[in-house]
Amino acid sequence: MPTATITLDLTEHHQSLTICPPEALALQGQIQIPGDKSMSHRALMLGAIAQGETRIQGLLLGEDPRSTANCFRAMGATISELSTDWVTVQGIGLGQLLEPADVLDSGNSGTTMRLMLGILASHPGRFFTVTGDRSLRSRPMSRVIQPLQQMGAHIWHRTGGLAPLAIQGQVLKPIHYRSPIASAQVKSCVLLAGLMADGRTTVTEPALSRDHSERMLRAFGAEVAVDPDTCSATVTGPATLTGQTVVVPGDISSAAFWLVAGAIVPGSEVVVENVGVNPTRTGVLDALVAMEADITLENQRTVAGEPVADIRVRHSQLKACTISGDLIPRLIDEIPVLAVAAVFARGTTVVRDAAELRVKESDRLTVMATQLQRMGAQVTELPDGLEIVGGTPLTGTEVDSFTDHRIAMSLAIAALMATGTTTIQRAEAAAISYPGFTQTLQQICGTI
Ligand code: S3P
Repeated sequence: MPTATITLDLTEHHQSLTICPPEALALQGQIQIPGDKSMSHRALMLGAIAQGETRIQGLLLGEDPRSTANCFRAMGATISELSTDWVTVQGIGLGQLLEPADVLDSGNSGTTMRLMLGILASHPGRFFTVTGDRSLRSRPMSRVIQPLQQMGAHIWHRTGGLAPLAIQGQVLKPIHYRSPIASAQVKSCVLLAGLMADGRTTVTEPALSRDHSERMLRAFGAEVAVDPDTCSATVTGPATLTGQTVVVPGDISSAAFWLVAGAIVPGSEVVVENVGVNPTRTGVLDALVAMEADITLENQRTVAGEPVADIRVRHSQLKACTISGDLIPRLIDEIPVLAVAAVFARGTTVVRDAAELRVKESDRLTVMATQLQRMGAQVTELPDGLEIVGGTPLTGTEVDSFTDHRIAMSLAIAALMATGTTTIQRAEAAAISYPGFTQTLQQICGTI
């Protein structure tokens, strides 16, 4: 059987990923994916501020959780070497983080910076400085600065609410924050700050975002109430957190690459094992089913309070769909790869209400539109989304990740269906959330 050529090349400072699929490529196999990124951050953070020991299994070994671990180590938490096996965190107790001697570096990770600010805000008198890489220093932090200031925190920032930031913790007051955007990072930041405020801190969002913080805070012993009808979550402070055992399932955002690959490459059948299917995260499954993808959830179970399943996907002819409204926060990170699916669907797929994609690790609307256009796709950028006319064949060419992990991997999936060779520049970005992505790509293409 002809196989694909998949190679990683090192240039001076970056890696490029070259993919040349054979004419008759069919993807086969069982795939293990890395741990959930959102849960990995939260397990490390709650472990660090809880009393006693937290044990974490299945942690994501990507660059982002490493940034979180290093920040909390710098503030006194003892965190064992990161591993997918067991990681132990010796918690320091709520409100007990030490003032670090240096700037806290969140790297590329918005979750690290925004959630950590919520925790730092409630350390009266202690002073923290926080920065990140070039991408993170251009992403909006006002969305967390404003509610934290309302709670009483003192925060200094660059013009436009940009990092580097400085924050001096205070005795915080509880608030009811009505967030203008559905963002789990904003919600989690305010709830984490609320742990030390005396009374009820509530966040109401315009649509429900992922609820890992609410679930995990409750598991660690905090009093958390949720009202899905009003998209509200409340934490009652002062809370006490006690170290727990956390089992992190596979990340559905990483599974999404293989689900789309299996759906669009003729003759494919793959099973992605141990995928977290928390309903606040499964919008990608809803969208693919609406596109008539052949997807089955198998072996459904609950692991450490989170629903988990194995997901089987077989190739089928996809049809276009509309992705908008309350569905957006449930698939926010999967839109780039869903755009790839739409290129191979019959009809015109429309993504709306997704302006948030412009302030992710890159402007994902512009970058996906321009890079797919380079490959020959018919994609139009909308102010808050994309319009994709399916059915135009793709041709391999040179494209760029713009150092965004999800763009790098989405373009790799598009390359599987392109004629000729695609080279993805700055493909090393994948390691932010998916170390081992290239090896799994080689595995399901039958090249290893
Ligand atoms: C995340 C929330 C989402 C998501 C990000 C992870 C989290 O961001 O895009 O990758 O772990 O809370 P927003 O809350 O900004 O939408």
